[in-house]
Amino acid sequence: MPIPIHWRDDPMRASIEDQKIVVLPILGDARGSLCVIEGERDTPFPIARVYYIFGTEAGVARGFHAHRTLRQVAVCVRGSCSMMLDDGRVQRTIAMDRPDLTVEIGPMIWHEMSDFSDDAVLMVLADQPYEETDYIRDRARFVEAATA
Ligand code: TYD
Repeated sequence: MPIPIHWRDDPMRASIEDQKIVVLPILGDARGSLCVIEGERDTPFPIARVYYIFGTEAGVARGFHAHRTLRQVAVCVRGSCSMMLDDGRVQRTIAMDRPDLTVEIGPMIWHEMSDFSDDAVLMVLADQPYEETDYIRDRARFVEAATA
């Protein structure tokens, strides 16, 4: 069992242990269910962007990158998928199979999403607008930067 190493305050030293997985309260009544994600309460940042992935073809995996600075929280609001997080040292795979489960993807966390169900809708809340230069898409470079 590896000893978890925390690199708090250094975004180039992200740790799997710091990626919060939170089960939201479900506000249900006779009409059905409702979950709330409020910026700076249920996300550790003000929300600048929301995007969602759906209609994913069978067998497709997505992601395969890390961000230098972007902070994100993901929730599979319908269906299910698998989320693999990797800090360059330790990997963790999370089954995203309930609409009340939020998973943090901080800076310098390599992530890969797979096993999308036909009906999966993966919603992601982010703290910055889209910026391609923030991506690290080369895995070897990521590992080098994350473990330097
Ligand atoms: P990408 O982040 O590579 O998708 P994934 O990580 O799920 O595999 O984005 C796919 C394409 O969509 C890419 O051409 C960039 C574009 N895109 C935007 O224009 N804005 C966005 O907010 C996102 C997330 C992607």
